[in-house]
Amino acid sequence: MNEKIVIKGGIPLKGTVDVTGAKNAAVAILPATILARGTCVIENLPRIADVLIIKRILAEIGAEVEFDDDGTMTVDTTNINTSNVTMNLVKRMRASYYLLGALLSRFGEAQINLPGGCAIGERPIDQHIKGMEALGAEVRTEYGMLKAKAPNGLVGSDVYLDVVSVGATINIMLAAVCAKGQTSIVNAAKEPHVVDVANFLVCMGAKIKGAGTDVIRITGVEKLHGCNYSIIPDQIETGTLMIAAAATRGDVVIKNVIPTHMEALSAKMVEMGIDVQEGADFIHIKCDKKPKAVKIKTMPYPGFPTDLQQPATVLLSTAEGTSMIVESIFESRFKHISEIRRMGAKVTTDDRVAVVEGVERLTGAPVRATDLRAGAALIVAGLMADGVTEIHNIKYVDRGYDHIEDKLKKLGADIRREEVIREEADDLY
Ligand code: UD1
Repeated sequence: MNEKIVIKGGIPLKGTVDVTGAKNAAVAILPATILARGTCVIENLPRIADVLIIKRILAEIGAEVEFDDDGTMTVDTTNINTSNVTMNLVKRMRASYYLLGALLSRFGEAQINLPGGCAIGERPIDQHIKGMEALGAEVRTEYGMLKAKAPNGLVGSDVYLDVVSVGATINIMLAAVCAKGQTSIVNAAKEPHVVDVANFLVCMGAKIKGAGTDVIRITGVEKLHGCNYSIIPDQIETGTLMIAAAATRGDVVIKNVIPTHMEALSAKMVEMGIDVQEGADFIHIKCDKKPKAVKIKTMPYPGFPTDLQQPATVLLSTAEGTSMIVESIFESRFKHISEIRRMGAKVTTDDRVAVVEGVERLTGAPVRATDLRAGAALIVAGLMADGVTEIHNIKYVDRGYDHIEDKLKKLGADIRREEVIREEADDLY
């Protein structure tokens, strides 16, 4: 069903909201259950499209899967008997590349459809392949599929990543945990979800040291086992809510968060003059005036996350002064800008740099989400704009946010979801 979100903006968000489990940890931990050859109970999972897709993939290859309403999934991977995952579902999400590392580790071979995901840049997977090859796999791309085989088993090795890649770091960990001997991943990604996946693997019996630093060292073990695990709170949902609170000049307590994961954003918000208070597991955002313009450059963790660049651009669109945003991770992550211009924002872009001249206010308009975080950014824009904003292509937002409109409604937003009739979508603008 084609749906849109309709927002009557201009209402300051107020109240308390809970953050759900991290999407980017969930989409790696669920494929990692393949390594257990037993039962894993995963708690605090978000109910988002990407999690439901992996659930279906796991069930189709022979796992027994149950997903409770409270966000707990029980996955028994004992009877998975194929390393061939070529159904179309795989193409619908980027993170399906984790099936490669997990299946290769369990079966010594894997065949998956090339992964899809948000169109925010070229998004090569050469570093994943380099890692698998270093561990002794032969990897080739054929007929739209990625095929990997380790005829003599996977053997630990040193892997130096040419770029800091979250996906490659996690995928190589998945392949290495049961490889013979030692593996070092040098120039590894340090994102909170990399650490969460490592903790999950350790809970299953893996030997991993250094997750969260530049060098991860893994000693291969013969086999892993099932376990119970609770996923960390979503860093990007937390950040989106922090930004939405400030953008609407609101007063919101965001609960069930890990404040240290948010330091890059919190520091920027303080620089903008926004009141940011932190407790052990909450962040309180208060903002009653225009934020000040700032410079932002996206960087791998602990730098400013690229996933929050799009919502942050929107927040800065009504700041006092002119902000500069440099997107250093993905080359096509400014697609939300043409949409917010339709709402009155004054933003110019040149390659990876956006210059945002603060305007008095945004005004509602029909707009289209082009990817997951662009969709989140447009929701923030709709919340702060005068009048009514309709955000189309909301399926992108559903890939990564668990009932976002319900959470915002609880904070006082005038927001609803509606079905879109075909002609309306065609005639949007
Ligand atoms: C993950 C997140 C995504 C986030 C991104 C950066 C998941 C499911 N998605 O994406 O939300 O925006 O991290 O924090 O966790 N690169 C290569 N070769 C590779 C792999 C990556 O050149 O083999 C490049 C990418 O094009 C990009 C940079 O490295 O420029 C970082 O990408 P990476 O960290 O791998 O992003 P993803 O894992 O795809």
